[in-house]
Amino acid sequence: MTVDDQSAVVELWQKCNLTRPWNDPEQDIAFALKGSTSTILVGKFAGKIIAAAMVGHDGHRGALYYLAIDPQFQNKGYGKMLIAEAESWLKQRGVWKINILIRNDNQHAVGFYKALGFEDNAVVSMGRKIL
Ligand SMILES: CC(C)(COP(=O)(O)OP(=O)(O)OC[C@H]1O[C@@H](n2cnc3c(N)ncnc32)[C@H](O)[C@@H]1OP(=O)(O)O)[C@@H](O)C(=O)NCCC(=O)NCCS
Repeated sequence: MTVDDQSAVVELWQKCNLTRPWNDPEQDIAFALKGSTSTILVGKFAGKIIAAAMVGHDGHRGALYYLAIDPQFQNKGYGKMLIAEAESWLKQRGVWKINILIRNDNQHAVGFYKALGFEDNAVVSMGRKIL
């Protein structure tokens, strides 16, 4: 994506219930686009953004955030296609494993990732704000 796509991407994430009051999607986009170890991939249909995902690595593992397919375009293979693009982006940078965080109440996404061969890492993910 480019900065011009920002409002369309945020709108898509909102439509897909991925935004939360404690996260600032515009700040997340700016930060992901700034460095060389992360980016945001988008998919367009008839010129309109219908898919987006943030991908990056921290020097150890690859990570994927904010994966969203417009509800009107779900179940058509676009999610799988975007994951393949994200994995290709990581592989080109030498990353050999991708981790994904899924909210506890998003069982649909769990089913999707399992269908794609992802496995439960059996870890507890914890975090806190440091800035
Ligand atoms: C999760 C999401 C990205 C999936 O995208 P999608 O385009 O609908 O999924 P696809 O059509 O590419 O599905 C790929 C495969 O997974 C399977 N699949 C998808 N969801 C599944 C589920 N809940 N359980 C089992 N299999 C599932 C499909 O049947 C398909 O299988 P196939 O390759 O054998 O045909 C989409 O539903 C979405 O944007 N959801 C809202 C946002 C969200 O929850 N994002 C994830 C945050 S962690």
